[in-house]
Amino acid sequence: MSSDRLTIFYTGATGYIGGSVLQRILKHPRASTFDITVLVRDAKKAKMLESKFGLKVVQGSLEDTDKLTEESENAHIVIHTADCDHEPAMKAILAGLKKRHEKLGDKPILIHTSGAAVLMDESRGRFASDKVVSDLDIAALGALPPSAPHHVVDLLAISADTEGYALSYLIFPTLIFGTASGPLYDAGIAKKYSIAIPWMADAFLKRGRAGVVGTGANIWANVHIDDTAEFYYLLFDAILTDPSKLGHGREGYYFVEADEQSGYDISKAIGEALVALGRADDAEPTELTPEERVQMFGSEYLVTLLWSNARCRADRGRKTLDWKPKYGTKDLLDSIPHEVEVVLKKQLAAENQS
Ligand SMILES: NC(=O)c1ccc[n+]([C@@H]2O[C@H](COP(=O)([O-])OP(=O)(O)OC[C@H]3O[C@@H](n4cnc5c(N)ncnc54)[C@H](OP(=O)(O)O)[C@@H]3O)[C@@H](O)[C@H]2O)c1
Repeated sequence: MSSDRLTIFYTGATGYIGGSVLQRILKHPRASTFDITVLVRDAKKAKMLESKFGLKVVQGSLEDTDKLTEESENAHIVIHTADCDHEPAMKAILAGLKKRHEKLGDKPILIHTSGAAVLMDESRGRFASDKVVSDLDIAALGALPPSAPHHVVDLLAISADTEGYALSYLIFPTLIFGTASGPLYDAGIAKKYSIAIPWMADAFLKRGRAGVVGTGANIWANVHIDDTAEFYYLLFDAILTDPSKLGHGREGYYFVEADEQSGYDISKAIGEALVALGRADDAEPTELTPEERVQMFGSEYLVTLLWSNARCRADRGRKTLDWKPKYGTKDLLDSIPHEVEVVLKKQLAAENQS
């Protein structure tokens, strides 16, 4: 990077992933030379990010495409951790990066967050797939159909690299778990909890017993939030210090995976937490009926996603970034009682209010 100051445009700062990654990047040895602009919807959080964390804030949403284009045009690096399915937002970011390249001739960086759901199949808990995709397997990744979840946006990000006006790095987190912690969480700015386990905990608490789709034989990869943040940090640092060793564009898929668990493992752990909290008599999950599935998860897509196989290997991160995750499936299962308790408290608070 030629300029003394590094301009970064950042989306998703108030999110579970985005908060953890941002606070890790703020600890980079060269952080005092970074000019980070965050896109934030909430006015109160925007103020705190400015006053307490020294960030520049653009108040707005991914729908404000003019702002996305303008901020991306001004950035050496765009780190996008907000909605990975938002096509107009990606197009607006790319328009800004292209303008920058045409004006200055440099190649700005795009670090885009996608997700391992791109690999999901139609198991619906009936079988464990033996297909495990390495992120070094360019042919397998190149063969993913545009219709795969998140992939329309991924392909846009890759096209910027192929067309030569930006360098794109695509991060595919698996099932992220663990309570996020640190200054952005202590300040009440970023979300502490992930998505999938609270969804299931909420549904099974209301049901009074854990449920499963099929036999829960499907397998997903998992990773702890702190290991995820470290992964982004190592990639970011390598981009600053030694980008020549990094794959980008079509060779820039980075899975973030530490371990694996089955659908049944999660349901059973939630079932045990329900029993411990006095919310169920039996920890053993029972099969959800089609009516329950739709009622609990709203759509068949979500049911298929949660009980799919998504098995992958983060070989690129382990090899080129020397990323060494500290946590695995035991930690995931150990985290579930706390997650269930938090969801129960929310349900009870909502009941008391109504
Ligand atoms: N968590 C996982 O296990 C996981 C795994 C793989 C992939 N992913 C993907 O990674 C992305 C981030 O996930 P997450 O778990 O960090 O989600 P999250 O906690 O809900 O955070 C989402 C972040 O994006 C922001 N955002 C969302 N829509 C926006 C919009 N229209 N305009 C402006 N900001 C917007 C949110 O802002 P507000 O605070 O204003 O809502 C928040 O800062 C998602 O696309 C998710 O599908 C997540």
